[in-house]
Amino acid sequence: MYRDLIARGHLAFPPDFVLGAATAAYQIEGGANEGGRGASIWDTFSHTPGKTAQGATGDIAADHYHRVETDLDLMASFNLDAYRFSVSWPRVMPRGEGEVNPEGLAFYSRLVDGLLARGITPVVTLNHWDLPQALEDRYGGWRGRETAFAFEKYAEIMGAALGDRVAMWSTHNEPWNNSFAGYGSGAFAPGLKSHADALKAAHHLNLSHGLAVAALRRTVKHPDAQISVVLNIFRVEAETPEDAEAVRRFDAVANRIFTGPMLRGAYPPDLLDDTRTFTDWSFVLPGDVELCRQPIDLLGVNYYEVMHLRLRPEFDPATEAMGGTLFPGSERIEIVRRPDLKRTAMDWGIEPQGLEDHLVALSKDFPGLPIMVMENGAAFADAVGDSNGRRVVLDRDRTQFLIDHATAIHRARERGANVVGYIVWSLLDNFEWAEGYGPRFGIVHVDYDTQERTPKLSSHWLSELCATKVIPILTTP
Ligand code: FCB
Repeated sequence: MYRDLIARGHLAFPPDFVLGAATAAYQIEGGANEGGRGASIWDTFSHTPGKTAQGATGDIAADHYHRVETDLDLMASFNLDAYRFSVSWPRVMPRGEGEVNPEGLAFYSRLVDGLLARGITPVVTLNHWDLPQALEDRYGGWRGRETAFAFEKYAEIMGAALGDRVAMWSTHNEPWNNSFAGYGSGAFAPGLKSHADALKAAHHLNLSHGLAVAALRRTVKHPDAQISVVLNIFRVEAETPEDAEAVRRFDAVANRIFTGPMLRGAYPPDLLDDTRTFTDWSFVLPGDVELCRQPIDLLGVNYYEVMHLRLRPEFDPATEAMGGTLFPGSERIEIVRRPDLKRTAMDWGIEPQGLEDHLVALSKDFPGLPIMVMENGAAFADAVGDSNGRRVVLDRDRTQFLIDHATAIHRARERGANVVGYIVWSLLDNFEWAEGYGPRFGIVHVDYDTQERTPKLSSHWLSELCATKVIPILTTP
């Protein structure tokens, strides 16, 4: 049925270019109280009234915990080279440290074996935000230095358990959201609102990254081990030349706060200056930045939209009235909503050109470091069923979005960017954090009442891309 809607294109990736789809544990697994799993900060947060849309929680989500085999078969039917998933830390270590839950480990071990049996490369993320609640209670979560050392231990345990079969590892996913949305704006778990704490959390995420990279090097025995971190490095563009200062500030607090210590071994001096009113940075102890900076094999980049920025002349009380500023210094920065752009259901502007330019620029900034796009995709309101009563989802918008972004990556490579893979967000419709189950990012539709999976047109597109490495196109727009 989908076959007629997709045609062979003419842009080819090389045979070793990695293509796949991604998920994250709390967004799909469900099974929240099963198999000895402990609580995460997302369980607590989503169960707190008012924190998520319609009070949605990840208790059941896409019920992947019980449907692993079905989901593995779907992935195989899509010819995926790679599947990126995250491990739920509290599923394998219910209190975040100490006791290891063998049932939790066995779940991921089975998942890895199931992938390998189907010829799919596992790409494992250790932290996709679902921190064990026990560590939040005991150490203040990522505000506490102890959490970084608990993460190191957890990385060691995972490396030892799966590192004979898993080559590709990432420490964190988007530490920006983890720290600034979790501890600064309060939009994400644990829902706290302090710029000082967000900066502290960012440092402990950096520190824990370095410790975990070293822990994985010690324990992962796979001969092709590739260790990375996944950052949502923002593509930032000034509206006018006068707005360059807004770009500098945003880039410092959102991007270079992570790439500085992780990849260059220092916090940028301008970031330290910009944030002095919030913190004296005394939580950075001697030797820390050396620990943060560990050689990595691959840089994971998540891309959704461009940040168009304007500099605000002075403090804007309107921002404060909206419940506090988003990040330190954001009262000076306006994120401009470009009226000319097409938008996704998240209201994110669609700009594949931004991805192309971003990848070219990043490759220049970090020469010698291969980049993998670890997340890119779009939420649209999908309709199930066609006029002939067939159970299909003709998600042309999403498919075109993926075509345009795959093409952008292809162009970036032609301009010299060292991009080695493209992983689509997401394999399944899932729990979109504070937005709950409204936005659907999946290439597979999930009916949350029955848990029925319906592959969308976009999954057929990805299957063709994976099988041929040639970017397929839509026959009719
Ligand atoms: C990213 C997250 C991912 C998903 C997408 C839409 O920020 O890493 O889990 O929610 O956004």
